[in-house]
Amino acid sequence: MRVNNIEYRTVWMEGATVYMIDQNRLPFEFSIFKAGNYSETCYSIKSMIIRGAGAIGAAAGFAMAQAIMQAPGKNPNFVDKARQEIESTRPTARNLFYATEKVFLAGKHSREAAIIEAQQIADQDAQDSRTIGRLGNELIQDGYSIETHCNAGWLAFVDYGTALSPIYFAHKSGKKIMVYADETRPRGQGARLTAWELKNAGIPFRIIPDTAGAFLMSTGKIDMMIVGADRIAANGDAANKIGTLEKAIVAHHFNIPFYIAAPTSTIDLSCNSGKEIIIEERNADEVLYQTGMDEEGSIRKILVSAPGSAAINPAFDVTPASLITSIITEKGIIRPKGPEIKKLFKTDT
Ligand code: MRU
Repeated sequence: MRVNNIEYRTVWMEGATVYMIDQNRLPFEFSIFKAGNYSETCYSIKSMIIRGAGAIGAAAGFAMAQAIMQAPGKNPNFVDKARQEIESTRPTARNLFYATEKVFLAGKHSREAAIIEAQQIADQDAQDSRTIGRLGNELIQDGYSIETHCNAGWLAFVDYGTALSPIYFAHKSGKKIMVYADETRPRGQGARLTAWELKNAGIPFRIIPDTAGAFLMSTGKIDMMIVGADRIAANGDAANKIGTLEKAIVAHHFNIPFYIAAPTSTIDLSCNSGKEIIIEERNADEVLYQTGMDEEGSIRKILVSAPGSAAINPAFDVTPASLITSIITEKGIIRPKGPEIKKLFKTDT
């Protein structure tokens, strides 16, 4: 995607260095974070300098390749330990584990094979997102208002994104659309990142409080909802950013189509249902404090809750397949039912 007239990917690797757009500095500052070794790439995933299922998948693949490059010849445990470390950064996004496994196995042949595999995972992620955009665009009619939750745009992938990719295609094809971006407390990926992306692309949008979705749906303002996913179980249950489940229930109540957009690398056939998906629990400070820019232009963290309060901070929830209209994948738009999902993998397995 273009930023200041330069074409960027969210994350890329040159030599042994992984480069990524620093998403903790956005939307206030556009800067590139450099991770010179696999530990620094792990840090970037853990601290959410890079986030979003596909982007952390690509970063984890690059981290695995970095570890394989760094491995001293006489220490066979180095790469195994590195893999464990990378896989312990964030538990929910399937793409992270998909990438580490693929690069780890390629590394059994050679360092070069591991690097090629990591680059291919990133390229494939961008290509899949593009296809999701082209297919998803067919569902969007001229004049539609679309609600989305969190950020499943190009910042959450290597390029294009998933939930936002059909929106980019619709806009490019001349359809008049309006996007309602849930702010997505506590970290505000909607208000910060989705809004930044849409503004950058010149697409009309409004940020809405997380609590406003039901009201807008009840007044007929929303034609469809598209969100991303971090892991999809074999039965079609989908884990996505906390708050998604609530939106899906409300959309169902008002008979509004609710789509999940995700590449097949997010589907985990080893997970029978959403009950088996591990939900990340993040630091309570993300709920108790907010970070933003003050009027003088300094980025500050401020307390926004009663001093001394405790909080809980589950980062994801699971939407049951019964509430999902369809899943938009790079292999087609499917009903979220076991047999349909398994069919997607027929040629791969
Ligand atoms: O915690 P994050 O920001 O890494 O959350 C992941 C997400 O961006 C969302 O859940 C998103 O809607 C789907 S993944 C692109």
